[in-house]
Amino acid sequence: MKASLSGRTALVTGASSGLGVAFAHDLAARGCHLVLVARSEAPMQQLANQLRTGGTIVHVRPTDLSDASAREALANGLAGDGIVVDVLINNAGFGVFGAFADTDWSRLDAMLAVDVVALTHLTRLFVTGMRQRRFGHVLQIASTGAFQPTPSYAAYAAAKSYVLEFSYALDAELRGSGVRCTVASPGVTATRFLEVSGQRATWYQRLTRMQAPGVARSAVQAMLAGRTGIVTGVVNALMAHSTRLMPRRGSAWVASWLMRN
Ligand SMILES: NC(=O)c1ccc[n+]([C@@H]2O[C@H](COP(=O)([O-])OP(=O)(O)OC[C@H]3O[C@@H](n4cnc5c(N)ncnc54)[C@H](OP(=O)(O)O)[C@@H]3O)[C@@H](O)[C@H]2O)c1
Repeated sequence: MKASLSGRTALVTGASSGLGVAFAHDLAARGCHLVLVARSEAPMQQLANQLRTGGTIVHVRPTDLSDASAREALANGLAGDGIVVDVLINNAGFGVFGAFADTDWSRLDAMLAVDVVALTHLTRLFVTGMRQRRFGHVLQIASTGAFQPTPSYAAYAAAKSYVLEFSYALDAELRGSGVRCTVASPGVTATRFLEVSGQRATWYQRLTRMQAPGVARSAVQAMLAGRTGIVTGVVNALMAHSTRLMPRRGSAWVASWLMRN
């Protein structure tokens, strides 16, 4: 039986843009109240005003998730305001495109802080309360990049492999607790992602690009159906799972070819 989110509260990270906005709309349509988190306050306030007209209770919490003390302050502030997080959508993240040896360390450092450390820390901050209440969902956003070594996104893809493996292990640990962890792996989606990573869309990305609302819907549906993992989109799923049949060096070569600018 599918779980209902009506009257529950979901914290969505990366809610100022792209998939985060799509998650917020999708969850609000399911009767869920929201906590929106990202650095940019203005787009989140705009989104909050739009969603409030439909009766959704929306809290906006501008936060730089690369900062550990800001993450602690976010969790403490919500607890202080009596806001119980039933659903955590760890969606905030970005990639850094280019040859690893030429990449600016400060960008890689910030990327790992958000994509890996913040995701793990937020999960730790909220999952214990969920387990005590015997209800909760954690939805982690990985990537099809998680399934193979990806030259030109070497550190980003490896970070997303961490998200994938961490999430499967956590879900196994949580079995029987009333809390589940689901990991969604989107392929290229029409958001600001490529602009932020510094890549021009390749022919493959243009061909397989999906729209954010559909990706968010599939991920939420998988979460509510109690699935541990989903690769969104049929072509993405075929590509991601086919890498299991290939030696790692072979799948790295294919990924390099598909990502070439
Ligand atoms: N689009 C794709 O092709 C694709 C494919 C696979 C996986 N993904 C994953 O999907 C997730 C969402 O990305 P998107 O495609 O929606 O890209 P996006 O439009 O660039 O959105 C990224 C979000 O992350 C937030 N963010 C970045 N750094 C942050 C920080 N330090 N603190 C708080 N929030 C931060 C951004 O908000 P602020 O800048 O306002 O802080 C923004 O809301 C990411 O985890 C990405 O890796 C995307």
